[in-house]
Amino acid sequence: MSDYREWDQFYHDNPLDELGWELGKPRPVLVEYLQAGFLPKGRALDVCCGAGTNTIYLAQNGFEVTGIDISRTAIEIAKQKAAEADVSIDLLNESFIELPFASHEFDFVWDMGCFHHVEIQDRPRFIAGIHRVLKTGGAYMLTCFSYRNGRAWNHFTEQQIVSLFCRYFDFGEFRDYSSLEGDGVVRFFYTVLMKKKPFT
Ligand SMILES: C[S@@+](CC[C@H](N)C(=O)[O-])C[C@H]1O[C@@H](n2cnc3c(N)ncnc32)[C@H](O)[C@@H]1O
Repeated sequence: MSDYREWDQFYHDNPLDELGWELGKPRPVLVEYLQAGFLPKGRALDVCCGAGTNTIYLAQNGFEVTGIDISRTAIEIAKQKAAEADVSIDLLNESFIELPFASHEFDFVWDMGCFHHVEIQDRPRFIAGIHRVLKTGGAYMLTCFSYRNGRAWNHFTEQQIVSLFCRYFDFGEFRDYSSLEGDGVVRFFYTVLMKKKPFT
């Protein structure tokens, strides 16, 4: 979307169970990495948290969680779901363009389907922002569209991801997989767990 604010209309107009990215349960790759002990515990940021499904899972699993999303409607849904799940989460209607946090606030940033919607001209600012808000030794877990979905401005190869993020992060294993999404369509993703380079 060329204007990030259009996302709110999307949540307003479509039931949650028809949204492609909304599985109605936490992302299996998040569950797997968390259970394997790969994620640093502490304060977590869910950037573009949407309706809060993964955000709530993190809160239920020992993280002190903040979620941000540009969609007021999504944040309202997430707040309601967090109350129903009886978890305390800081849910903010904010944009990733100006992350409203001090430097070094978070141990872990979870990104499912956020970076691949960042406009090309905003990518440098987004990546620097994620790096800035992470503590030294903090981790960023990116899940984004793969080139295997076909050519598009936001379908990435492993080499593109490396070239975009290597100034700021060291890389773990690249997971390259398909997923049956909430709208019944199979899509291809990369997931990569990155570690903050300690130059700030
Ligand atoms: C593909 S959805 C993923 C939602 C959530 N991560 C999930 O997995 O359920 C992309 C999300 O990015 C949010 N978004 C888009 N532009 C944004 C911006 N500038 N700042 C914060 N959130 C944004 C949308 O509102 C939407 O919730």
